[in-house]
Amino acid sequence: MLSRLASRALRPHAVAAGLTASAAAGAGAALCNDDCIPSLSYGWPQDGALSSFDHAAIRRGFQVYRQVCSSCHSIQYISFRNFVGVTHDEAGAKKLAEEFEVTDAQPNDDGEMFERPAKLFDRYPGPYRNEAEGRAANGGALPPDLSLMTKARHGGIDYVFALLTGYADSPAGKDLLPGLYYNPYFAGGAIAMPPPLMDGQVEYEDGTPATVTQMAKDVSQFLAWCAEPEHDERKKFGVKAVTVLALGIGITAYYKRLRWAPVKTRKITYME
Ligand code: HEC
Repeated sequence: MLSRLASRALRPHAVAAGLTASAAAGAGAALCNDDCIPSLSYGWPQDGALSSFDHAAIRRGFQVYRQVCSSCHSIQYISFRNFVGVTHDEAGAKKLAEEFEVTDAQPNDDGEMFERPAKLFDRYPGPYRNEAEGRAANGGALPPDLSLMTKARHGGIDYVFALLTGYADSPAGKDLLPGLYYNPYFAGGAIAMPPPLMDGQVEYEDGTPATVTQMAKDVSQFLAWCAEPEHDERKKFGVKAVTVLALGIGITAYYKRLRWAPVKTRKITYME
């Protein structure tokens, strides 16, 4: 009796699990000749058609980026003004910008280039002056710019999260060259980026415990925002546009029938 009950209770779950498994397999099937494993689909707050980014996560993610990733990676397409209304208010973003020194685009009166505190319109400064410096500091591997990273890789935000949490000991038989680390999500399995995150590495302003997974999740969401800062506005605008279009279609349909009814029902008779 008990076992029958149990099996009856379990059956829908089994079916659901099967469906999920086949959906997951369809989403990112691992092929035998792949040299990396596909990231899972984790499900993010912004995935829904009407959902926005989790702004608290973006703010925490920025903290992780700033304190950890920015020593090697740039976010060259993000300006300080992009933070206004997202992670900082205007005064906060100005104060943040002032903490950085940038070279002014114009020389001073003596023709010399000069440094000044950054302003809202400046891009977020990267760690290196040029590619060669980046490569020299990382054993020949260039840390790529992260501002469009979630758009540039298969798996997008899921890939970034999987990569950051995917470091493991290299399996028997896979010897890595010095300066490379085993990460099965990276194509080829050997990545030149040392595992960047460690538990407790960041002290979150909002008191969230800074575990590796928490930081990886937050910084992934931050990078997804960097790649699509217009995301929330776009969805909001989409709702407005669809509503107005639907109204417009309704009115047009009604008006068309109204205008055409007399024309279409008109009867012309010729009399001799
Ligand atoms: C010590 C320097 C260093 C730090 C710190 C660092 N990275 Fe990297 N990262 C690298 C290097 C070097 C590469 C290039 C790896 C390669 O091509 O083998 C890289 C590559 C990447 C890639 C691209 C992988 C790909 O598919 O090409 C991502 C994404 C990434 N890093 C994210 C991050 C994030 C997020 C952080 C902060 C949590 C971070 N990195 C911190 C050095 C660093």
